[in-house]
Amino acid sequence: MQETNPYVQYVYLASAALFILSLKWMGQVRTARRGNWAGTAAMVLAVLGTLIAGGITGQGYLWIAVALVVGAAIGTPMAIVMPMTAVPQRTALSHAFGGLAAALVGVAEYLENANSGMSTFTVGALSVEMLLGFLTFTGSLLAFGKLQEIITTKAVIYPGRNLVSIGTLTIAILSAAFLTLNPASTAAFGVLICASLLFGVLLIIPIGGADMPTVIAILNSYAGLSSCAMGFVMNNKLLIVAGALDGTSGLILSIVMCKAMNRSFANVLFGGMGATPTGGGAAKSPTGKAIVGFSIEDAKSILQDTRSVIIVPGYGMAVAQAQHAVKELANVLAAQGTDVKFAIHPVAGRMPGHMNVLLSEADVPYDQLVEMEMINSSFPEADVAIVVGANDVTNPAARTDKTSPLYGMPILDVDKARTVIFIKRSMNPGFAGVDNELFGLDKTMMVFGDAKKVMTELVAAFKAGH
Ligand code: TAP
Repeated sequence: MQETNPYVQYVYLASAALFILSLKWMGQVRTARRGNWAGTAAMVLAVLGTLIAGGITGQGYLWIAVALVVGAAIGTPMAIVMPMTAVPQRTALSHAFGGLAAALVGVAEYLENANSGMSTFTVGALSVEMLLGFLTFTGSLLAFGKLQEIITTKAVIYPGRNLVSIGTLTIAILSAAFLTLNPASTAAFGVLICASLLFGVLLIIPIGGADMPTVIAILNSYAGLSSCAMGFVMNNKLLIVAGALDGTSGLILSIVMCKAMNRSFANVLFGGMGATPTGGGAAKSPTGKAIVGFSIEDAKSILQDTRSVIIVPGYGMAVAQAQHAVKELANVLAAQGTDVKFAIHPVAGRMPGHMNVLLSEADVPYDQLVEMEMINSSFPEADVAIVVGANDVTNPAARTDKTSPLYGMPILDVDKARTVIFIKRSMNPGFAGVDNELFGLDKTMMVFGDAKKVMTELVAAFKAGH
């Protein structure tokens, strides 16, 4: 697009700077809100810059206005209505739309300019844009379907699946290369689109629903790189910068998530983990000892007059939406003079920052949220660790059992607290599908029940004072 307004580069520069600051600020709970606003402002500036850049005709403004209204009409209710627990699938939908938009811009550019002598570089960038955009579109749609349980959440495994997937990707890459060298080949153009769309599907179906958050971070990266390629096609520097930021941050996030789970990329993309949980279920510890459930009153009597308590939230707290009740318990304990902290594991729950988001929603002060590396040294001094719907992130097998899928994953040292209260519904395992020996320790009290119900009853018992 031809930019005729000399000021547009300054607007783009301000927008790029805000995008970078936004990522920096979003890296910490304390500054995350500011990061969100900075990202929003950056996007507004980017849109304004494009509108004043020049090269848009009267008819073009009309179409942009229509797109703005349609986009806002879909996006606003999505943001308001979708619950916090549905953020991973909402993100998947956003990536699907982002990928499709980038891919369609590529298609439009190709159809408009294919016969007017595009440079090899431009067609190459355009091919990359379409490949990544279309695969992000179908892949993200499928990820949404799995997370929303519209389609099976299980990993769909079939013989030779890796061969089929790699074969399809190879066809997509070869057709992109052919198109780059022969821009007039509409056959290569068609094959590229079909193979990319198909590869997006093949990429996601062998992955279990629980691994989707990591895959969504990878798809985020693809969508960003597609936009970056679009920036080269359209000669738009802001698109190149914003797309590259999006692409690299998505990639870094997926690497951080894999590391925190002690998984490799290949294991997430091809492993099919989380498809079918194994182990657990019986009211027995892994050592075979029968497990006795404790009552709310038992838990209350242990928590009374404690000096320090560490609350360990996990996926079950999110499922039960127990964060407000947990916060109330923290208030009640603080009122009796107990020092209360929350231990945050980087992959507790099912999406990055899951626990931070939920506890912030319940207005837990930021200084009570302590990251794993900082809190672990406090467990030996803690009177009680209350584990609310967490499991894998506390499992000592990660330290000791080389055969465990959790081996090597950093965990919260809950077993070092004087007493551990586990709140969960049964002896069922967590995401990794393995038993937790903590349940059978003498210092452990299992309080069985839905996290929200147990927490609410515990608070009520404290308030009743009996
Ligand atoms: P998990 O190990 O998955 O354990 C959650 C526990 O919550 C389950 O054992 C379940 O036991 C309990 N639970 C479920 N619903 C409940 C309810 N309504 N009330 C009370 N308890 C309930 O969770 P975690 O400790 O948070 O660990 C997260 C796991 O997910 C890790 O293995 C991690 O690698 C993986 N993962 C994380 C992410 C991110 S980015 N966070 C992404 C993908 C995978 P019951 O059924 O007995 O109640």
